Amino acid sequence: MFATALNKPQNNLPHNLFEEISKLKKELNAVILAHYYQDSDIQDIADYIGDSLGLSQQAANTNADVIVFAGVHFMAETAKILNPHKLVLLPDLDAGCSLADSCTPAEFKAFKEAHPGHLVVSYVNCTAEIKAMSDIICTSSNAVKIVQQIPEDQPIIFAPDRNLGRYVMEQTGRDLVLWQGSCMVHETFSEKKIVQLQVEYPEAEVIAHPECESSVLRHATYIGSTTALLKYSQESQIKDFIVATEPGIIHQMAKAAPDKHFIPAPAINNCACNECPHMRLNTLEKLYLAMKNKTPEITLPEDIRAAALKPIQRMLAMS
Ligand code: 13P
Ligand code: SF4
Repeated sequence: MFATALNKPQNNLPHNLFEEISKLKKELNAVILAHYYQDSDIQDIADYIGDSLGLSQQAANTNADVIVFAGVHFMAETAKILNPHKLVLLPDLDAGCSLADSCTPAEFKAFKEAHPGHLVVSYVNCTAEIKAMSDIICTSSNAVKIVQQIPEDQPIIFAPDRNLGRYVMEQTGRDLVLWQGSCMVHETFSEKKIVQLQVEYPEAEVIAHPECESSVLRHATYIGSTTALLKYSQESQIKDFIVATEPGIIHQMAKAAPDKHFIPAPAINNCACNECPHMRLNTLEKLYLAMKNKTPEITLPEDIRAAALKPIQRMLAMS
């Protein structure tokens, strides 16, 4: 992929996209923030690669004038909420999220009204409108920590991911009211195929993202956000890992520990559906064009942005 991007000019694109992107970065005073689920070449050109929490912390602290967000829409939107006066670019505006889509503002309003007196903790994988209707935002790396800081007698709605919500319930012993959303990628892993891989690689450990179903999580030695999984795979003495999250993360895992063996957890069908179709809409070419043309840009109505900022700031303070 790296070689293709460097050597093959396509559709009048420059020969060396890496060089052109670096030039544009200086011209625009831009920073490129990339999630681990992006294609390897995007990860290789990024200034910062991280999980949702790390990316929002970087967005909150950047001095750049332009944020090029190589991730999905809700992530770029979070960067815009934190930086209303900066230009935030998303290489492909259609890069959405099945989890965010599962929670519409009208349905969520009715859900909240059906549960009066509940504090709303929302996973960052939701739209700005849902964030604006929430009390505290969390990510997969701080969800347990945040719920633990809420007084025990306070009832809580947790949205939109039922799998992360169930995991938080198990870890905290709290009873949460769960919105029944899920991630199309993390629900695709096959327990049967994971068990078959464990027979084939008896020394291997399963490491999993908490967006996975409990049938997968119960085989995991370690559960965590993408950054936590990366760190664990580096620090562990184990050499073989079955990785139950989007396989884009394996690029960094293999870079950090080239002597180790990372096996992507297989999907139920013989498809590539363990790759996030939304994340993978972004390409190096689209990233270059976004910087060159300063579009597509993330915009938000100011009232929604201001209301969505408060629960994000609470999260950043509690993390
Ligand atoms: P983290 O970035 O928190 O690990 O979450 C993964 C994810 O699914 C992002 O959409
Ligand atoms: Fe959304 Fe799942 Fe893709 Fe993450 S992996 S962006 S939760 S669809």
